Amino acid sequence: MFNLECRRRALLLHHMKKLILLTTVIAGLMAIGCTGAKSPQDRLLANEAKINDIISQMTLEEKVNMLHSKTNMSSAGVERLGIADMNYADGPFGIREEGVPNGFQSAGWTVDSATYFPTGSALAATWSEDLAYKYGTGMGKEARLRGKDIILGPAINIQRLPVGGRSYEYLSEDPILSAALSLYYTKGVQDQGTAVCIKHFALNNQETNRGSVNVVVDERTMREIYLKPFERAVVEGGAMSVMPAYNRVNGDYCSENEHLLNEILRGDWGFLGMTVSDWGGTHSTMGAMLHGLNVQMTGSSYLGPAVIDSINTGALTEAQVDEKVRQILRVRFAIEPVPADQANQAITSQPESQAIARQVAEKSIVLLKNEGILPIKSGVKKIAVIGQNAVLKTQSGGVGAGVKALYEITPLQGIQTRAGKNNIEVAYAPGYKNFPGRRWGGAAATPDPLVATAIDEPADPSLMAEAVELAKNSDIVIFFAGTNKSIETEGSDRSDIKLPCGQEELVRALREANPNLATVLISGGPTDLQVLEPASPAILQGWWNGMEGGTALAEVLFGDIAPSGKLPFTFPVKLEDSPAYAMGNFPNDTKEMDLFTSLYRPDMTPAERQALNAKRPIPQSPYTERFYVGYRWFDTKNVKPMFAFGHGLSYVTFGYGDIKAAASKKNVKVTFTLKNEGGMDADEVVQLYVKRIGSKVEWPEKELKAFSRVSLKAGESREVTLEIPMNDLRYWDEASNGWALEHGKLQLLLGSASDDIRQTAEVTI
Ligand code: BGC
Repeated sequence: MFNLECRRRALLLHHMKKLILLTTVIAGLMAIGCTGAKSPQDRLLANEAKINDIISQMTLEEKVNMLHSKTNMSSAGVERLGIADMNYADGPFGIREEGVPNGFQSAGWTVDSATYFPTGSALAATWSEDLAYKYGTGMGKEARLRGKDIILGPAINIQRLPVGGRSYEYLSEDPILSAALSLYYTKGVQDQGTAVCIKHFALNNQETNRGSVNVVVDERTMREIYLKPFERAVVEGGAMSVMPAYNRVNGDYCSENEHLLNEILRGDWGFLGMTVSDWGGTHSTMGAMLHGLNVQMTGSSYLGPAVIDSINTGALTEAQVDEKVRQILRVRFAIEPVPADQANQAITSQPESQAIARQVAEKSIVLLKNEGILPIKSGVKKIAVIGQNAVLKTQSGGVGAGVKALYEITPLQGIQTRAGKNNIEVAYAPGYKNFPGRRWGGAAATPDPLVATAIDEPADPSLMAEAVELAKNSDIVIFFAGTNKSIETEGSDRSDIKLPCGQEELVRALREANPNLATVLISGGPTDLQVLEPASPAILQGWWNGMEGGTALAEVLFGDIAPSGKLPFTFPVKLEDSPAYAMGNFPNDTKEMDLFTSLYRPDMTPAERQALNAKRPIPQSPYTERFYVGYRWFDTKNVKPMFAFGHGLSYVTFGYGDIKAAASKKNVKVTFTLKNEGGMDADEVVQLYVKRIGSKVEWPEKELKAFSRVSLKAGESREVTLEIPMNDLRYWDEASNGWALEHGKLQLLLGSASDDIRQTAEVTI
């Protein structure tokens, strides 16, 4: 009965899909014929005849062999027909070190040291499409040097939770900013002949129970907020592959989610490439085959022999397998395989990528607060650098996104090198213990005086005394606070955003010892600054800023360049102010464990973990805060944040001239003059928000709709134009199940941050 029903469904779906594919191809051909314009996805259609021919020569076994992993980081081609294997590489910030064929353990190579680029939120803090493109080119080129076809990245989920374990990998809480950077990163990679695999599609916004949690979200919120970055990367960037996420969305796992994979991705967005499940994220043969998955990573439990059995029983047809193979081959032929004798001949990290990593780091650092402390004054003779985050390397950790960097300049090294040029003395004290996270095999045999056993351990008296003494005897204190990549990591969310290991107590003591104090926050996501902010007259957000992070930070501290990063997310005063917490939507089911979180329970056997997983109820994650994500919530509910979305100071001020605004059928255009009023060259990121006036539709207080990074010489003025495409003003209308434009008045809010609006104008659309 089940088989018959499945077969009927499968056949129906298959015919429908054939029709859709045919319509897509015809529509594509018509568009080319009529306008000469090609959609970026169309490059995947260049080899259809060749693909037909190859499929006709393949055995069923050869076809099915392409639908699952060959090794931990590859899926098979067909050697007999000259079809190369597909080689994958993590991750978003650098080509991951080569692993052994069947796992993540190091293969022990030396040629695979790569460029470690700034992490996701740091890239987003540049608000620069140009830098996102360059970053992509760096990743794409290094992937080629390593013989890789597909990069498992960029990671472009929206930062919904301040505690999110992967917030540092992701870009922003805002869809317009995330989408623009995702698009340019994608173009940068794919212009080098490497494919992206944008991840994690979709709504992988929490790590807690990520392998089982069911996200319950309404269509409007999903389309306007969470899917936007994916949509632009696919539709405008021509992203060739997509990684369905671990979690469920509205009932179904993402790797077998008809609505996400077939209706939206392939249907609405015209995606022609392949989907690759997250590692261990495939859950059934029929679900994956019918609802949009191409490749099971890793293993072959579902998209292996079981597919052949299902064909034999009549539950699936070979034509359905052909379609999956066709989608994989499109990517295979769009990406030239790197010949084995050309891969890994040169070291992965190349000087031009290192230069890009440095440029991104330079433009990402955010000056959150400055009461005349920075840049470091010329009379300074001795600098106290305090805090282990000044010396801890950040390239590895965080699970999948670690990089084996060719080198990494720590903040302390960056400061020492720069200070050396002016004969300034630099002295270092660790100040606090480092919390290294979960430890395999329990606590270390001999306790390390610099290692904490709990994240909330109070300040260590002797480390604190040493740091205070140094602060007293120095002209300026640079305090390195923040988290680390064991605290913010894939696989778990933080339980709060408090600064760890007594950092709050320490900063108070340092301030008493020396009021000339600047704090640099080294973290990927926001931290609670209720104690630190009043104690620290200057604060920088320094991120995990790649292998050149220390160099860039020193340039900013010494005033060689002006800081110009802007926050890509809101710093709440306290965690409970943020939307998912305020609505009681998170934490959810945190006591339950799933396959992934339970991996960290060394006391359980794999069988026990599986059994626990099988009998537990499905954890639910309701998104009832809807589209009020990040600043959309804070602004609408009038909750004051510690530092607002888009905030970031400079060493100069910028003058915003009057704005001219006009609306046409195509777009809304704003023109104004921006002036650098200071005595040094500097960049400003201008931001245009929209507020609806007299609207019948529900909207947040305001929404970012356009932005631009503008570089100005000291004293220079420039006319700047920002454009909002009309499509970006639409909303998802649940009644008609489509995009709709609400005509009416818009207030345009132009400024330097979401809470620093300098000019306004009104237009009617
Ligand atoms: C992560 C992915 C990553 C994959 C392969 C998974 O655990 O979620 O982002 O690409 O592992 O390393």
